[in-house]
Amino acid sequence: PYVIGKDCVDVNDRACMDVCPVDCIYVGDRKSYINAAECIDCGACEVECPVEAIFVDRKARGDEERTQFVEDQKNFFAIVLPGRDTPIGSPGGARKIGELGVDTPFITDYDA
Ligand code: F3S
Ligand code: F3S
Repeated sequence: PYVIGKDCVDVNDRACMDVCPVDCIYVGDRKSYINAAECIDCGACEVECPVEAIFVDRKARGDEERTQFVEDQKNFFAIVLPGRDTPIGSPGGARKIGELGVDTPFITDYDA
């Protein structure tokens, strides 16, 4: 799957969302996150991001920082939102649930 990396933090441009055919890019507070279970690996988002924040996960191999973002992106979907009793999981579409307004602790504390 594809991963949104550090350059999205505090930019969160969302141009990627507009081109994703399966609407699997979810908007957090400081960055956005691709749902790996829903992503069909089309790669449309990668070329659309103005700050080139998106990469395919196999290009994280041997890169410690990118590997952290691969792991972190998984952690995002395990977040339980306030007032819910189940994790974000795979909602099946980002537009219908809107901006989630949260980040993982790693991103909340990330020094961009
Ligand atoms: Fe972020 Fe780039 Fe998308 S800045 S929200 S990955 S267009
Ligand atoms: Fe969507 Fe990008 Fe995957 S456009 S399907 S998140 S590769």
